[in-house]
Amino acid sequence: MDKELVKSLNSQMNFELYSSYIYLSMASYLKSLDLNGFANWMDIQVQEEISHTMKFYNFLHDRDVEVEFEAIAKPQNKWDSPLAVFEHALKHEKIVTKRINDLVDQSTRLSDHATLNFLQWFVGEQVEEEANVMSVIQQIKLVGDSLFLLDRELGQRVFTPPVEKK
Ligand code: FEO
Repeated sequence: MDKELVKSLNSQMNFELYSSYIYLSMASYLKSLDLNGFANWMDIQVQEEISHTMKFYNFLHDRDVEVEFEAIAKPQNKWDSPLAVFEHALKHEKIVTKRINDLVDQSTRLSDHATLNFLQWFVGEQVEEEANVMSVIQQIKLVGDSLFLLDRELGQRVFTPPVEKK
């Protein structure tokens, strides 16, 4: 197997592990806000990323090439709001999609059909990953709008002095 491609696949295995790490940090931030439903969604995302890591790990072993772990960077651990968390997650997924597409291009240049076949699962998965995060962002924005409407309604309350009984 081409050495540069092995390097790229190892790099992606490590990036998937980093993805699980950053999502765990996001889950922890959401949990600290007592947003346990949001935190649960992110916990599932952590598990998905570990399963992606394992897919690369197993593929590299199946191809009988070297599996090399790298240091995992410290993830961000504070955000301005739950919306900022999910916007960051979408940005992150777009980076993953670009990396997968680059891997597909690299494998195509090398006519490595086995790797191309392996990567097809990730091509489809990335469409789903981005759509899932976009859906949460949309839902947070809708809730934000209802809060705005409720805030406007509550803002109309005025003090009416009690009528004095004669
Ligand atoms: Fe494994 Fe969310 O990309």
